[in-house]
Amino acid sequence: MRSNVDDARDRVLAARSIAVLTGAGVSAESGIPTFRSNGGYWRKFRFEDLATPQAFARDPKFVWAWYEERRRAIAASQPNAGHEALVAMENRTPSFTLITQNVDGLHERAGSRNLIKLHGDIWIVRCMTCGREHEERAALTEFPPKCGCGGILRPGVVWFGESLPAGAMERATDTVRAAEVLIVAGTSAQIYPAAGLIPLALAGGGVVIEINPDRTAFSSEVHFALHGPSAEVLPWLL
Ligand code: OAD
Repeated sequence: MRSNVDDARDRVLAARSIAVLTGAGVSAESGIPTFRSNGGYWRKFRFEDLATPQAFARDPKFVWAWYEERRRAIAASQPNAGHEALVAMENRTPSFTLITQNVDGLHERAGSRNLIKLHGDIWIVRCMTCGREHEERAALTEFPPKCGCGGILRPGVVWFGESLPAGAMERATDTVRAAEVLIVAGTSAQIYPAAGLIPLALAGGGVVIEINPDRTAFSSEVHFALHGPSAEVLPWLL
């Protein structure tokens, strides 16, 4: 009997258009904690204290200390076999778009090119006063860091209660509608609007392949629920 993975691989290899939605689980095997699984940030901290505009307004030093700790951990990590498999998939698929909720930049470091970053980028800083933003990879020397204009810099990520970057969700929606296959890897699929891309693909008749060691709210609806770590399962699809 052919396995689920073999059937999923056939769909991937035959597809002319593929969309992929990734979440924190894809970076887990690079040593970056997730948010909601064991050892995840939201098991130890309250997101209300670290990932909202109100938290930053209350205590920018505390919020920045957490982001800087994450930035150093990410800087010391490497993309894993899952990130690399997605680059190989992009190279062989005529139309390929990677939609990520991750802010760590590991997809870019692996070599992914056509990328939609729904939740921003931890390496970008943005001035709360003049609005200018730039990439900043060096270790921070002051908390919170300051802009040349004197304003406070914030991380260039999306916090709870904030809008997604302009146009990102529209592009993601168009991509998922047009894709023959949607691969959903390493996300608990609890945060909207990103998670809404899964029912969108299902409603449009796309084949949906989920990769996650655990079940999610969509596991029983997707065409293939492949239970395992993404650094192992994503390479199997090629
Ligand atoms: P979560 O922490 O909610 O979910 C991570 C998922 O990855 C879980 O379903 C795990 O089972 C799965 N997982 C763990 N290890 C894995 C592995 N090795 N391979 C594959 N999957 C694995 O992270 P996200 O779904 O990304 O937003 O969370 C979405 C958003 O919520 C984040 O972008 C962040 C967070 O709060 C903001 O901060 C705005």
